[in-house]
Amino acid sequence: QVAAASGHSVVLVDQSEEILKKSTKGIEESLKRVTKKKFADKPEASTEFIEKTLKNLTTSTDAVAVVHSTDLVIEAIVENQEMKNELFKRLDKFAPEHTIFASNTSSLQITQLANSTTRQDRFGGLHFFNPVPVMKLVEVIKTPMTSQKTFESLVEFSKAVGKSPVSCKDTPGFIVNRLLVPYMLEAVRLFERGDASKEDIDVAMKLGAGYPMGPFELLDYVGLDTSKYIIDGWHSLEPDNPLFAPSPLLNKLVEEKKLGKKTGEGFYKYK
Ligand code: 3HC
Repeated sequence: QVAAASGHSVVLVDQSEEILKKSTKGIEESLKRVTKKKFADKPEASTEFIEKTLKNLTTSTDAVAVVHSTDLVIEAIVENQEMKNELFKRLDKFAPEHTIFASNTSSLQITQLANSTTRQDRFGGLHFFNPVPVMKLVEVIKTPMTSQKTFESLVEFSKAVGKSPVSCKDTPGFIVNRLLVPYMLEAVRLFERGDASKEDIDVAMKLGAGYPMGPFELLDYVGLDTSKYIIDGWHSLEPDNPLFAPSPLLNKLVEEKKLGKKTGEGFYKYK
């Protein structure tokens, strides 16, 4: 959405036409929210902006078929190392020489993903934040093998889509998640111990620390499955680090398919 809205030609790839239809509808709705304020008293300009953006956006279920005409691939599939490696390895065979590969991974090592390709110098991290149309930040990750030219291209691209890039080495969680995920897990542990209710913890962090959402609201928003993948991955890297200890309550909710807002229930229920 943000790439198409800033004039880039985008092909959105997903597993089925059904998912793509849902995604396109989500983008249309999000664009309406964005334009409501941007073109408050100019409804024609708003319609024109939405139409122009949607013209820049096509969809496909076949990544291999579209990668041959792509300058930049931004991967945002499930947070699973093998599946990401498999995808990158396949795309590497068909992508043009100059194409840069980037991953939006929240927690996996960019270096390991880059190693599944032959273009380690044209590989980096581009980590966006939910909700992407609103959150201004992008973390740009440079591995020891990422070339300076690739890094600069990723920084330029981030600015071209209207974001403010920061850079970080290829370390677990980069900047934001390295601080945010242990904080959210500490909130779950505080609740699990019975020290405070989840409602009071959320109110406390909103009113006492100025956060726009409390930790439980944010966990539901990000997705409990994603949060679990992140913490499990880090726990396997550093089993003795108490900040990365898995949470029995989070595991239970994921097992029950209560994944947060997207499934209608997580720590809270949604209509
Ligand atoms: N698309 C477009 N616009 C959107 C939107 C979307 N999906 N979601 C919200 N907005 C817009 C609204 O239209 C509204 O715009 P306006 O100010 O022009 O009216 C504005 O954002 C504020 O939205 P709301 O009034 O509906 O609600 P809030 O004021 O409560 O804000 C929020 C919603 C922006 C989501 C805010 O609660 C927030 O900033 N929450 C914290 C989000 C956060 O921490 N994100 C990081 C998560 S970590 C992550 O993503 C990393 C990953 O790797 C796990």
